[in-house]
Amino acid sequence: MAQYPELNGRVVAITGAAQGIGAVAAREFALQGAHVALIDIAEVEGAKVADALTAEGCRARFIRTDIASESSVQSSIAQVVEAFGGLDVLVNCAGGYTKMLTIEEMPVEEFDKVVALNLRGTFLMCKTAIAPLKRSKAGRIINIASISGRTVHATSSPAYGAAKAGVIQLTRFLAWELGPHGITANSISPITTLTPRVAALRTPEQVEAMSASIPLRRLAEPIDHVNAMLWLASDAASYVNGVALDVNGGRVMF
Ligand SMILES: NC(=O)c1ccc[n+]([C@@H]2O[C@H](COP(=O)([O-])OP(=O)(O)OC[C@H]3O[C@@H](n4cnc5c(N)ncnc54)[C@H](O)[C@@H]3O)[C@@H](O)[C@H]2O)c1
Repeated sequence: MAQYPELNGRVVAITGAAQGIGAVAAREFALQGAHVALIDIAEVEGAKVADALTAEGCRARFIRTDIASESSVQSSIAQVVEAFGGLDVLVNCAGGYTKMLTIEEMPVEEFDKVVALNLRGTFLMCKTAIAPLKRSKAGRIINIASISGRTVHATSSPAYGAAKAGVIQLTRFLAWELGPHGITANSISPITTLTPRVAALRTPEQVEAMSASIPLRRLAEPIDHVNAMLWLASDAASYVNGVALDVNGGRVMF
């Protein structure tokens, strides 16, 4: 694992940190010495991840938040600043979808729900974090999009793909708007990633078949994305701004 000593003591807020890619991100940032706010709607699971980090001697705190609610997000960012004295890095990892429906089949309520979680939630977190990020000497926004926001494939939700494409473009606007304040904003687009949740939904044969279509012949692991996040948060990436970084083993190339 690459070491970024400059991350020691930086305040990193991570949404979706109760499980999956976000939980791995919380752990790896904490092991770099960052002070980590774990933001998630899942109280029991999120507190468990934060407690485990604290038990290992890391500085971590769980803050229950519904990222789709403006008042919840405002309270969440206020708690981060109060607990840690500021905010340096915001990682927006919370997202996803549960129903695979065509546009023709999709009730508008389902569309709104998926967009609220993936796009509105990311917008609210970014918007609310801008004031404390402006006070940081190395402000960073890292938004997790998806390969579904980069290309169209049958095994995804149109609402999710559209929302993730929105996340990528929102990130470019953030890069444009916040660059003059020394804040960078970049997005990462993962391919199917073997989190415990995703792995449980697929047989080894299905994983093998999916891997065959990827030049690197394997699905992603959460750490593949977290390595990109650590680098984007580090001083090494201080001139990287507005990028849509594909972490997909070369499955789609632009
Ligand atoms: N895992 C993959 O294969 C994959 C592929 C491409 C993109 N992504 C993206 O990467 C990110 C992480 O994916 P994952 O598979 O690790 O996610 P996950 O489903 O395992 O975890 C998502 C987390 O978000 C939290 N969450 C859900 N709704 C919330 C809300 N309203 N407010 C706050 N928290 C909320 C959940 O409680 C959960 O802890 C997501 O944005 C996802 O869209 C994942």
